[in-house]
Amino acid sequence: MTEFDFSRIPATPPSVFVAPLKRPSHLGDDWLEPQQRRYTADENRLWDELFERQRRLLPGRACQAFVDGLERLDLGRGGVPSFERINESLLPMTGWQVVPVPMLIPDAVFFYHLANRRFPAGNFIRTRDQFDYIQEPDVFHDVFGHVPLLTDPVFADYMAAYGRAGWKALKYNRLKALSALYWYTVEFGLIRENGGLRIYGAGILSGPTETRFSLEGRSPHRIHLNVDRVMRTDYEISDLQSTYFVVESFAELFHMTEQRGFEPIYESIAPGFIYAKTAALDTDHIYHRGTQEYELRGGRGSNAEPV
Ligand SMILES: [Fe+2]
Repeated sequence: MTEFDFSRIPATPPSVFVAPLKRPSHLGDDWLEPQQRRYTADENRLWDELFERQRRLLPGRACQAFVDGLERLDLGRGGVPSFERINESLLPMTGWQVVPVPMLIPDAVFFYHLANRRFPAGNFIRTRDQFDYIQEPDVFHDVFGHVPLLTDPVFADYMAAYGRAGWKALKYNRLKALSALYWYTVEFGLIRENGGLRIYGAGILSGPTETRFSLEGRSPHRIHLNVDRVMRTDYEISDLQSTYFVVESFAELFHMTEQRGFEPIYESIAPGFIYAKTAALDTDHIYHRGTQEYELRGGRGSNAEPV
């Protein structure tokens, strides 16, 4: 039996460093907004344009579960989808719901919601100036990118297991290691399907450049996911990834993590990372060894071509 109580927000030990986020005064400890905000006509149009641009790129690139989920939840019916309406369909499928939050929320609160099958989605939508790129997760990234896969029963279980894993990461003070796992799976994961690679990561699927770059670019490595390795690997938060990790199936992903028990990893690693984001190791199963030329030319900051 577990030593943790997943029905309450886990305490953050004083030794654990967390970003100093300031909770808006109208919110409770769970950071949930009382309701989804109402969007202006222009914001709804922005959603439609973002949706249409991504939809055109999905065939042959997004994994089947994502495409199916998008359709089953009917996220493209026009305007920012109502969370209430999404939940009417999603809840009976996998027990998940989407809940509105104002911005990035503290790790402990995030884990608490995931463990209880609530996906916190940013309430705001980017502005037109941020059409192509936004670092903070907005409602388009969160709903278009993340929510379709919550209709897949195995992936839905993985997300809840990830939330529960947060308690142990807090206890061992190894949030970075667990974040790297989230980053390289939920946000930037690739999956092998029909003999080719497809995308399931929300961070990739919510923007056109990385949707192409992750699969077709010659720069990035594409390496089979090994949990012990990934949890020791640095990642890029403000540019295209240097390496993508590939799973054979969501069942494989679920078993690799749920059965691993992260204590041996937490006990053997330092709080920081061991492997650079550009590393390709002798022990890696490599599908594609990238040239890293995008990274070497300075990436986004140098206007490097994402090839
Ligand atoms: Fe995300």
